[in-house]
Amino acid sequence: MNRLVVVSNRVPLPSAGQQAGGLAVALDGLMEKRGGLWFGWSGIVSPEAATEPKVESAGAVDYATIDLTPEEHTRYYNNFSNGMLWPLLHTMPEMMKFDRRDAKVYRAVNDRFAMQLATLLQPGDLIWVHDFHLIPLAAALRARGVTNPIGFFLHIPFASPDVLGAAPEVASLVRDLLAADLIGFQTDNDMGNFAAAAVSFAGATRTSPTTLMYAGRRVRLGVFPVEIEAHSFARMAAEMEQSEVCQRLKTSLLGKKLILGVDRLDPTKGLMQRLWAYRRLLEKHDDIRRNVTLLQIAATSRKEVVSYKELRDDLDHEAGGLNADLGEPDWVPLRLLSRPTVRQAVAGYMRLSRVGLVTPLRDGMNLVAKEYVAAQNPADPGVLVLSRFAGAARQLDAALLVNPHDTDAMADALDQALRMGLAERQSRWRSLWEAIEHRSPVVWGRSFVASLLRATAATARMPRQPGVPALAIDRPAAAAPVRLTREPAELTATGEKIRLN
Ligand code: G6P
Repeated sequence: MNRLVVVSNRVPLPSAGQQAGGLAVALDGLMEKRGGLWFGWSGIVSPEAATEPKVESAGAVDYATIDLTPEEHTRYYNNFSNGMLWPLLHTMPEMMKFDRRDAKVYRAVNDRFAMQLATLLQPGDLIWVHDFHLIPLAAALRARGVTNPIGFFLHIPFASPDVLGAAPEVASLVRDLLAADLIGFQTDNDMGNFAAAAVSFAGATRTSPTTLMYAGRRVRLGVFPVEIEAHSFARMAAEMEQSEVCQRLKTSLLGKKLILGVDRLDPTKGLMQRLWAYRRLLEKHDDIRRNVTLLQIAATSRKEVVSYKELRDDLDHEAGGLNADLGEPDWVPLRLLSRPTVRQAVAGYMRLSRVGLVTPLRDGMNLVAKEYVAAQNPADPGVLVLSRFAGAARQLDAALLVNPHDTDAMADALDQALRMGLAERQSRWRSLWEAIEHRSPVVWGRSFVASLLRATAATARMPRQPGVPALAIDRPAAAAPVRLTREPAELTATGEKIRLN
């Protein structure tokens, strides 16, 4: 079996016990089962750029990570990845902040990743690069002579060419991405947008819905919606329901229905729109006031990015106003938490709630929506109110789908959800459960890897263009592959990981 080399900005290092985003948790299971090398940022900012990656191992996985310098952290991670690419690809170009110096450092970090990763590669390795931080990595690896199969998966949306056109230097990013053999997306809409961008910005030719020809090479595209372990999440939620932490929440509600939102505090999540809709609901319906509580977990994230700081202020202001205007001496309509909450507790809260409110303005997938479905008690399930602009809406169309920009429609959907009878709740929940129950992140990962192998096998059969190197997969793996030094894995005290998209 070819070794799998996963590359991502965020790496869930066993020794760090750090909270990981959706990407890291989605990949964890696959890596644990299959083993391999996981390469990326250590999560540490240190004054000196180390010349060698740090290595640790746990089970069959070797982790090789590098620190970022303060300038790299600011320009590559905060400014270009989170301040420019994130809003751009989420179709919020008015929020993007472009600066050439950031773009330069973003490329330099990708080059450094490529340089240090190249020294660890073996013939036969399959390289799987993840997410918007690492768009130029495939091209940087090719420039260093790496011929192994390279797949790329984008966890977030891909914007239409019209929107992308607003970003300087976007054409070179699209060209760089085309150095991969397989490029995967969450939805067919994202794939279509990328194909259109490859044609208009890079001059690629689309020879089939999932094939592009570029610089004499075939590049495959595919749709691979990220999944959750629905059964294990369901078990966790059922167990947690009786836990002290969940029972305390239940007691504190005094019989009121719970509406639950769980997000990173991020401008794409539509948190302000959600509070406006909740206010509208309470203003419109006297009989709902006092009988409902919204618990919004908005875990602070990317604190150094200006738009995130501004959102935090706006949200605090809006939340304070809502409670002050509509609250009563014995009833507070909204509970807003910015500290992260452990995943197990969130699973239990989901099961206790009558409504799950997942209303991003735009989202690649949104695994919280899937987790909400998994967490429900089939005998008395809650209702999912889901933005039609989340990738998950394509699979979870039995939810109440809303446009988060339409405050009245969202308030009406909340009203409908709160009043929905048991039979309709059960029948909607059954359809939602069927959409997720037979899938898993491991199957998702395997299907991407199988497609990568197929894509590169097909490319290897194509007549070679002059100057286009043969694939490393054609060559037999070295007889005795060099192993990374294994050190005993330190396990984290809690083992907690939070999956927030
Ligand atoms: C999203 C992105 C991931 C990212 C995560 C957390 O899920 O797709 O790439 O890791 O958010 O964001 P952070 O900036 O903390 O890594």
